[in-house]
Amino acid sequence: MSKIANYDTLNYDYRKYWKNREYENKSEHIALDSLLKGNEGNWFIDIGGSYGRLTPTYYEKYSNPVIIDYSLKTLQNNYEYIKQNYPNTILIAANAYNLPFKDNTFDGGLMVRVLHHIDRPTDYFKEAHRVFSNNSVYIQEYANKKHLKAMIKALLKFDFTIFNKEPYQQPTKENYEGARKGSNVPFLNYHPKWMKETLRESGYIVIQERGASFLRLNLLKKILGVRLLLLLERISQKAFSWSQTSPSIFVKSIVNKGDFKTSKNSTLEDILVCPLCKGFLKIEKESAHCKECSKKFTKSKNIWDFRV
Ligand SMILES: C[S@@+](CC[C@H](N)C(=O)[O-])C[C@H]1O[C@@H](n2cnc3c(N)ncnc32)[C@H](O)[C@@H]1O
Ligand SMILES: [Zn+2]
Repeated sequence: MSKIANYDTLNYDYRKYWKNREYENKSEHIALDSLLKGNEGNWFIDIGGSYGRLTPTYYEKYSNPVIIDYSLKTLQNNYEYIKQNYPNTILIAANAYNLPFKDNTFDGGLMVRVLHHIDRPTDYFKEAHRVFSNNSVYIQEYANKKHLKAMIKALLKFDFTIFNKEPYQQPTKENYEGARKGSNVPFLNYHPKWMKETLRESGYIVIQERGASFLRLNLLKKILGVRLLLLLERISQKAFSWSQTSPSIFVKSIVNKGDFKTSKNSTLEDILVCPLCKGFLKIEKESAHCKECSKKFTKSKNIWDFRV
């Protein structure tokens, strides 16, 4: 099992995944639009944000949106598109476990469809917590281990392990999102209780949960069509999120820190640090090096590469 789902070595073009998934895509936008309503701020981070599929949900609300992703190629290939449509967005190649940002930098952030690739979620939550300022909004989406279809399938097989709280590694043959058959990358589904407890223990106060893609069934898509399905989705998100039976769940939390410092930084250079040792970075035009550990980083085709 490789620790990182490296879409570059898998040569995976994630944009293609969304070609015939309008219902799922719009369901997630509906959930995020609702969860982010009334929120605003300066720096915002989309962790594992890929080609900016979800940027419209936060772009107008935060002055400095940052997309970080482990896939340098995805960021390079989509740079022009993102800059044309969302000019203020900053794109950085980085690892979610080792973020190249100062403590208390961000006022808001999200991670969608990435946590299934994170096999050390508590380490990740700790690192994300570090870069958020006190009272920031953080939205964590995860694949729900006990969604309705999975529960029915498991119960028919008298398999009750679905109800235990531990994360569940899906067999790779069953999923195709950057973890195609044989690719051996982490692909974890999480239990809602585990998620809430772990977030709480990691310093996040959970304030709202919203299910998404309640009607993710090919048959329904064929019979009802996307427009009607999305109308029903809006109703389901409002009425049934409490049931925690949707395949995807969005948790809205407030970052709780003893430290009340907030960063007043306004440029990228102000917020960057060495992702390895968090030391001071000397930044030049296309390269940067850490004054503490001497690690060097480069910028290629417009994208800083801070992956460690
Ligand atoms: C399934 S895609 C989701 C992309 C985007 N969040 C969305 O919902 O459209 C998963 C993304 O997570 C990125 N990723 C996986 N592991 C990562 C890590 N450790 N650090 C940063 N990005 C990671 C992948 O490169 C990929 O772009
Ligand atoms: Zn360093």
